[in-house]
Amino acid sequence: MRCGIVSMVAGFALVLLMGSVDSSAAEHQYIGAAKCKTCHKKELMGNQYGEWEKGKHAEAFEVLKSDDAAKIAKEKGLSAPAYESDECLKCHMTGHGLPATAFKKKPLKAKDGIQCESCHGPGSDYKKKKTMSDRDKSIAAGMWEPGKDEKICQKCHNDESPTWDVAKGFDYEERKKEIAHPIPEDVKGNYIAMEKKLKAEKGESGDDDEEEE
Ligand code: HEC
Ligand code: HEC
Ligand code: HEC
Ligand code: HEC
Repeated sequence: MRCGIVSMVAGFALVLLMGSVDSSAAEHQYIGAAKCKTCHKKELMGNQYGEWEKGKHAEAFEVLKSDDAAKIAKEKGLSAPAYESDECLKCHMTGHGLPATAFKKKPLKAKDGIQCESCHGPGSDYKKKKTMSDRDKSIAAGMWEPGKDEKICQKCHNDESPTWDVAKGFDYEERKKEIAHPIPEDVKGNYIAMEKKLKAEKGESGDDDEEEE
């Protein structure tokens, strides 16, 4: 066992040393919504972070502390509270059960619930402005397309969920509208140029690349 861990660590160090020659060798990593926030909380962008924060996905961990959740956990005979059980956490937070190497820094916190990357894919490699402004490049760098692929939602919205409503099922087109957080139409595809213009007008200089690592 100890030997296994040592060789795993050694293997990982080797991958780090070799850099990202093959990005598929080192999978794209989760960075957490706080990183997306630096750009996606801006008014010009449409404040997707704020929309997400108001919605239920951000609350998905909190809901596991509710009376309803306790009741479900009891009925299922779980040995721990819902908010500590793998059986519940796996659909109520981002990145539950993944190895440490799946995260850029630390594993994501349960309390932050279901974050951007559960739907948009792990963001370590697509989060730069220039990459993000080019859809093909973003997809090549690991971005998913939840607006086109309902399987992303169905990983959680399915009959394995104890609160699944068989009659209602999951209406992808309708449910997407309920969580909409669009980039304003006149900004879409033009964000970098518009941001520059706005800053020039305000007399601010340069590109604030403190957002990029
Ligand atoms: C397969 C994924 C999945 C698993 C596993 C899962 N949930 Fe959920 N849970 C969901 C989804 C999806 C919803 C949202 C329901 C909706 O609006 O369609 C939800 C909603 C809930 C709600 C809120 C219900 C409401 O009406 O607002 C509670 C409470 C809950 N889950 C408790 C639990 C507990 C307790 C467990 C563990 C025993 C658990 N869930 C396991 C996917 C899951
Ligand atoms: C539960 C899944 C889910 C979560 C969580 C989520 N999104 Fe989205 N997001 C979507 C879907 C679905 C679309 C596409 C909507 C469409 O095409 O109809 C989308 C679209 C977007 C768009 C593009 C909008 C446009 O006009 O093209 C941005 C930007 C975005 N999301 C950012 C974020 C950020 C940042 C977060 C976290 C703060 C986040 N999303 C959290 C599902 C999600
Ligand atoms: C990682 C699991 C997971 C994924 C992926 C996921 N959901 Fe959810 N979703 C949940 C859970 C859990 C809840 C309930 C949270 C609560 O009640 O606090 C929920 C709630 C919702 C709600 C009702 C709450 C609201 O904000 O109005 C909608 C609508 C919804 N999801 C749509 C989607 C769509 C569309 C997608 C795919 C683009 C998606 N979800 C992807 C787990 C998930
Ligand atoms: C350094 C700034 C920055 C960060 C950090 C960032 N984004 Fe973006 N994002 C952008 C820009 C710029 C665009 C392109 C806006 C435009 O011009 O349409 C964009 C576009 C998007 C789109 C739309 C892609 C498309 O082509 O439809 C999604 C989805 C998205 N971001 C999600 C995320 C998520 C999720 C994270 C965190 C994991 C994140 N972004 C982090 C700047 C950023």
